[in-house]
Amino acid sequence: MTTTMTPALTALFEAAKAAQERAYVPYSTFRVGAAVRSASGAIHAGCNVENAAYPVGNCAEASAIAAMIMAGETTIIEALVVGDGTGLCTPCGGCRQRLREFAALTTPVHVADRGGIRRSFTVDELLPASFGPDNLAS
Ligand code: THU
Repeated sequence: MTTTMTPALTALFEAAKAAQERAYVPYSTFRVGAAVRSASGAIHAGCNVENAAYPVGNCAEASAIAAMIMAGETTIIEALVVGDGTGLCTPCGGCRQRLREFAALTTPVHVADRGGIRRSFTVDELLPASFGPDNLAS
């Protein structure tokens, strides 16, 4: 999908970049920041938080979603992930499912580095034929 840098998207990018600075990454040294804009227009950000017991670490997306839930919101309107490196810092498989829980299939997920947005996807592009809350409806 194509992306226009609106003021709202710039604010999302800046929040994710600020979160990336806070990343606790003594093991991978790979800093990730994420930010989600929820239905109220508020921005919730988070970073990856690693642990000496490696599998217990949190991804940045999980941290941002936790911040949104703590703010009393459950709908993601737009998400952005920022990470360094030549490859795109696309959300991991688990985080695609985490985003899916609170977003629509058409919700944009932007992937950025510190210089700006590199590519934008919809949730459906990242997680096709996904299983979500509606699949539990009888
Ligand atoms: N990481 C994230 O925070 N989000 C992703 O979607 C990809 C991976 C983190 C987890 C770990 O702390 C580091 O990046 C290296 O995998």
